[in-house]
Amino acid sequence: MAVLGLDVSTTATKALLVDAGGAVLGAASTPHAAPTSPHPLGSEQAPADWWRATCASVRDALGAAGLDGADVEAVGLTGQMHGLVMLDERGDVLRPALLWNDGRAEAECAEVRDAVGGLEALVGLTGNDAFAGFTLPKLVWVRRHEPEVYARTAQILLPKDYVRYRLTGDYATDRAGAGGTLMLGLEARDWSEAILEALDVPRGWLPPTHEGPEVAGVVSRAGAAATGLRAGTPVVGGGGDQAAGAVGTGAVTPDVWALAVGTSGVVFAPSSAPRVAPEGRAHAFPHAVPGRWHLMGVMLSAAGALRWYRDALAPGVPFGDLVAEAEGVEAGAEGLTFLPYLTGERTPHADVEARGAFVGLAARHGRPHLTRAVLEGVAFGLADNLSLLEAVGLDRPAALRTSGGGTRSPLWRRVLADVLGARLEAPASTEGAAFGAALLAGVGAGLWPSVEAACAEAVRVAGVTEPEAVEAYRGPAARFRALYPALRDARASTAG
Ligand code: XUL
Repeated sequence: MAVLGLDVSTTATKALLVDAGGAVLGAASTPHAAPTSPHPLGSEQAPADWWRATCASVRDALGAAGLDGADVEAVGLTGQMHGLVMLDERGDVLRPALLWNDGRAEAECAEVRDAVGGLEALVGLTGNDAFAGFTLPKLVWVRRHEPEVYARTAQILLPKDYVRYRLTGDYATDRAGAGGTLMLGLEARDWSEAILEALDVPRGWLPPTHEGPEVAGVVSRAGAAATGLRAGTPVVGGGGDQAAGAVGTGAVTPDVWALAVGTSGVVFAPSSAPRVAPEGRAHAFPHAVPGRWHLMGVMLSAAGALRWYRDALAPGVPFGDLVAEAEGVEAGAEGLTFLPYLTGERTPHADVEARGAFVGLAARHGRPHLTRAVLEGVAFGLADNLSLLEAVGLDRPAALRTSGGGTRSPLWRRVLADVLGARLEAPASTEGAAFGAALLAGVGAGLWPSVEAACAEAVRVAGVTEPEAVEAYRGPAARFRALYPALRDARASTAG
């Protein structure tokens, strides 16, 4: 007996088989082709590639676990959020999907705000400001720039819901993921007629919404033949990668927050009622837990910044070796500061044109200092996001539950604990969002009575990092905070 979590991320699709005690029975991951950038600020992927990777990963995971498709009780889907998949009336893909880190729709953000009567009205309806990476501004961009594609559109889906469609034959989505489209009413947890009307988006293009652990469909015959699962296996709503990832770390009640350092970096705070940041500057979406919401800060380049740095300046050097060199450098990297805004930023600086920087370079600095500055710069960006959530009036708990590749590095964990001034708790499972999706599937299948019960049973804290050198970062953090506005102003004054 097992439940299956499927994570359709940007880099790969992972399949994870978990038993009723939360133990991993088998896992497999199949890489995707890297996003392409046919537009200067674009980031696109072909939906067919996600489905190819899904079929391979499910078969491989079943093989690794020595299980048959009939042993799988339910499937939970998670994946990259905000993506725009456009289908015609036959269900065929009309163009490559525009991903979460696609920044081309900045002008359309203003159009969305104007159409609903301004920022305050938009935040009132959705809990959020418009960000270029969100689904709705990108849809408006396609309407303006590719009217022939728009005219043939009959359905729009999020990336993981395209995989759901291939697996079940049904159009459906989850409410946490739907929040990231900017078309969901935050309180009602369903599509906002007011937004759809104001932007002239047909209601019929949007799939039905479901709570995370709610059964939303079953594996079809075609889906079964392609993956090795059994036809008729229930598929639950699941959640966007951040909400499902939070479930996987046990961040399902207001007293447990999550910190994710993957390609993007996230501070995630569950709440029992919808909470909204002033001017929608943090993301406010339903949680994948029925009756719960969450507020989160999202920086676009976190571990993604370290990857860029390694590939550009130390190609081929393993991350562990590179980071180990930085251990001997003291806090503050001897005056060197790194700004991680390599792909623009979302929160707290909503600015698609923000850019990264090394500031304060001196002849005495070597590669260890640059590496240290990258680790610290990402931590300072996450600290900005933590402050943003605190400014809303949320009381941060003493500890944050960690996930994502970046939090597995002992030095980066140390830097994060010290810069954030928080105890970091690492769950035993490092399977992230796929693990959370498996738990949601387990609740749907009746293995556990609720998401909270699933977490109590299956999530264990395996490692703790206490904050120590908090004072040492006060000066470097102040330096970091001063630099974004200064560089933005320099950019503005030299533009054109
Ligand atoms: C969340 C977000 C990222 C993507 C990529 O708002 O944009 O987490 O889902 O994984």
